[in-house]
Parts: sequence; structure tokens; C-alpha cells
Amino acid sequence: MGNYSLSALGGGIGLRHAYFREIIEKKPACNWFEIISEDFMDYGGRERESLREIGKHYPIIGHGVCLSIGSTDPLDMEFLHRLKAFLHEIKSPWASDHLCFTMVDHTNLNDLIPLPFTREAVTNCVERLKIIQDTLELPFLIENVTRYVTLSDREMGEAEFLSTILEEADCGLLLDVTNVYLNGQFHGYDPLAFISSLPLKRVGQIHLAGWEPASDGTIIDSHDAPVPDVVWDLFRETIALTGPTSVLIERDKGLPPLSDLLKEATQADQIMHASCKDNKVHAAG
Ligand SMILES: [Fe+2]
Repeated sequence: MGNYSLSALGGGIGLRHAYFREIIEKKPACNWFEIISEDFMDYGGRERESLREIGKHYPIIGHGVCLSIGSTDPLDMEFLHRLKAFLHEIKSPWASDHLCFTMVDHTNLNDLIPLPFTREAVTNCVERLKIIQDTLELPFLIENVTRYVTLSDREMGEAEFLSTILEEADCGLLLDVTNVYLNGQFHGYDPLAFISSLPLKRVGQIHLAGWEPASDGTIIDSHDAPVPDVVWDLFRETIALTGPTSVLIERDKGLPPLSDLLKEATQADQIMHASCKDNKVHAAG
């Protein structure tokens, strides 16, 4: 058992349609898969059947992009109940979504927009997270997002904002190590110091991803490249602090052969086991 009373599944990968056939036919060694819930929940047919087949052999965990946790639009309870039915159908042991907003005036912006770091935003997120957790009846994790700007009406730092919501909503943290690394680059802070200041006993899962810089050198969190060495290094230090958990290699574009992603998941496994063996692991804060 890992942190936040969730199973520490080790390295896993994102389940994408392109890999279905190979996974069903060859059943490669992989600890678990994460799916984007909204890509599957409203569809039946062959894809749902494939998901059921894969679920017989591997744990599948639902990760969301549409809950819009920080929005001021009313929570879409009909959506939440459909999500619950889907997550329970695939036996997802927990669920997650991003600490951001995606909806404004009932319009989906199709992007993960960062929140202002204010007490008002904390209260709004906490209220909604309580409803989400009560409705889903599953452990729920919020993910820290990449942000390219800091909204001007901030009343606290990002770490305090995130930590306060985690504690007051009593939910878990999906710690995206790549997002922390990139935010450190964008906003000039030390990523490990940021991570160390979070309530790490609440980490129930980790994300790792890579990016391909644009031709002008601009970096965005594009999930289209292998995990770079700088992120592996930060992950090594992070996992020594959190202890064993479930570590996902996120890849959404430029999908490589399945075997390449599985190698990265194995690398995550090896680093996790080595770091947690070498260090006296404790969940801080
Ligand atoms: Fe992520």
C-alpha cells in the first residue's frame, strides 16, 4: 500500500486507442493503465468491448479533463453521475482530474486554465471537491497543472493554494512532476523545494511526461516526447520523499511503439524501487 491508502502500482502508461490491439493480443507486462475517462464513458461498441477485455488483465484508472473543479458554473451533476457509473464499471480504484477550470458560462474552453491563488477560489474548489468525492464514492486526486502565467489577484503562493485545498477538501494529490519542473522554469522557483513544501502523504499518483521544444525554443507541456533526464532526476528525488506510489508515463502525441513507453514505465519502476530502498522513506507533512 502506498500513500493516501492507495495501492502503489509502480510504472504504468496511458492507454491509447493505437495500442489496443497489441495489448489484447500480446498482453505485455505492464502494471496498470490510465485512461482519459471522457474518451470512453459515452461510447459503447468495439472500443468499450476492448476496454473491458483489457480490464480483465490490468488495473485501469480513470483520469478526467472535464470536471472543471475551479469553475463558478454549477457542477454538472448529470455528468458526474455518468462518470461515476463508468468509473465503477471499469473498477477504477480511484479517480482524478485537474485543479483548474475548463468551463466558463457553460462553454468548454478545451484547455486547463489555471486558477487565481485566492481564498475565494480555495473555498469554491473545496465545496465542489466535497460534492465530487461524495458523489463518485471513490478516492479522488487533484492534479497540479502547468501554468504559463500567474493571475494578478493572488493572495498566496501556488504551494499554499494547492496544500490548503488538499487539506480542506481532504482529497489526494496527483503530483505531475513534469508540470512542477516546467512551472519552476517559467516562474523561477526551485521545483524540489516546491514539492517538499506540499503535504506529500496525500500523493496517490505521479505523472511524468516530456515535451518537444518549438523551433523558436518555446516550451509547452506537450506530452509528445520521452521523459527528459531533468525530469527523471526530479522524479528520483521526489519518490524518495513520497515513498512508493503509482507512476504514469503520459504520452498524448507523437505516440511511439508501445514497447518504448513500456520501457519508460519500467525505468520509473526501477527508480522508485531503488530510491525507496536507499532512502528512509517518510511521507512529509
Ligand atoms: Fe499530468
